[in-house]
Amino acid sequence: MSTKLKNKIVNKKAGIAVIGLGYVGLPLALAFAQKGFKVTGIDTDEQRVGRIKNLESYITDVPSSLIARMVGRKNFEATTDFDLLRQADVVIICVPTPLKRKYTPDISYIVSAVKSIAGRMHKDMLIVLESTTYPGTTEELIKPQLEKSGLKAGRDFYVAFSPERIDPGNKNFSVTEIPKVVGGLTPQCTFLSGLLYSQIIKQVHRVSSCKSAEMTKLLENSFRIVNIGWINEIAQMCHALGVDVWEVIDAAKTKPFGFMPFYPGLGVGGHCIPEDPLYLYWKAKHYDFNCKFIKLAADTNSAMPSYAVGRLKKIIRKPFKSARVLVLGVTYKKDIKDLRKSPSIRLIELLKKETGVDYHDPFIPYLKIDGIDLKSVALTPANVKAYDAVIVAVDHSAVNYDLIRKNARVVFDTRNVYQDKGGDRVVKL
Ligand SMILES: NC(=O)c1ccc[n+]([C@@H]2O[C@H](COP(=O)([O-])OP(=O)(O)OC[C@H]3O[C@@H](n4cnc5c(N)ncnc54)[C@H](O)[C@@H]3O)[C@@H](O)[C@H]2O)c1
Repeated sequence: MSTKLKNKIVNKKAGIAVIGLGYVGLPLALAFAQKGFKVTGIDTDEQRVGRIKNLESYITDVPSSLIARMVGRKNFEATTDFDLLRQADVVIICVPTPLKRKYTPDISYIVSAVKSIAGRMHKDMLIVLESTTYPGTTEELIKPQLEKSGLKAGRDFYVAFSPERIDPGNKNFSVTEIPKVVGGLTPQCTFLSGLLYSQIIKQVHRVSSCKSAEMTKLLENSFRIVNIGWINEIAQMCHALGVDVWEVIDAAKTKPFGFMPFYPGLGVGGHCIPEDPLYLYWKAKHYDFNCKFIKLAADTNSAMPSYAVGRLKKIIRKPFKSARVLVLGVTYKKDIKDLRKSPSIRLIELLKKETGVDYHDPFIPYLKIDGIDLKSVALTPANVKAYDAVIVAVDHSAVNYDLIRKNARVVFDTRNVYQDKGGDRVVKL
């Protein structure tokens, strides 16, 4: 094993390059910079790099002041120049892993990042993939690509997978407070990557291979998609049975063991839960294995906006095509400004086909996406009164729900923001 690299990591002298400065890469790069490492963030998006150079954050959880401090100390810089990889001892890949067609992984971003590294590698480099992907990616795809450099993985350089588990908007757990799982190609790769993360994270959990680390992340995210799908089905069933699903969940969670609450809503959004489990679904198919739970949960969740439209039709007591609906919250979850795969967008698309629709979201002043071109409506009593129904799609904290309840003709609450205090005008999912 390279004692030179080991010493550089322990002494915070290892130069770190983070490829991809998004929700995952930017907080991670800054976490290493705060500990005294010299970090170079590389992104193909000139606009993002420009904003960092202007000391301006574009990620909700990252304050601009932190960027300014780290750039000021010369511990962090952002660039589009991949040649700076030549000076790095450690390279961490945090690029997107979306779906291409329905249920097919798009690993082109990983391939492109790895090609950029392969041409600029040197001995004793440590390369870690953080992007969520199917089990086998690091060994089957990254290792051979990097070995085209003429260097041998595990002997001349080190490779590991370490899934990112950050939860944007979660004030209780930042990147350094979430235990980190690492799995390398060889025990030395696992050791060095574990050593690296233990510089910024207290609890590092080592597994025996890259594949186990890749699978760990997919187990976590599949657990969420399946349970959210399940509770969405239960919510529909409870409505049919005339039972309040929220009351039932509150009661069930008094059991101190063997139950974990999940809550219904319009489905799942963001770059993780709707997509990552389908990487596993896709990979398993190559082994003639059909992940029935993942597919069923994905289908159940993606049908929720259409279910909500059906409920709205019954709630609004006038011909639906002459109605006007106000959608409250368009981001994929509360208190962040991320619209990716938001079920609210699908809801607006569906409503648009049949009735009048507007939205309000404190984080999104304009909505120009998927053929939708709307401006966030101000939440004044007069504006709220003008709609036949308000649907609470996202439970943002900064919304005056009392004003809505007092002025709306009817509120369809898909997030239980009113709990039992809604009164006659509030209909729960
Ligand atoms: N967002 C989350 O909550 C979260 C949580 C855990 C894991 N992940 C995973 O982490 C990975 C990154 O997600 P994200 O949310 O940070 O994505 P993001 O879209 O916010 O950021 C990715 C960045 O990578 C850049 N990029 C793309 N290709 C590049 C290339 N070849 N070279 C350099 N830069 C490139 C993009 O311009 C973008 O700035 C994904 O695999 C995702 O599944 C995300």
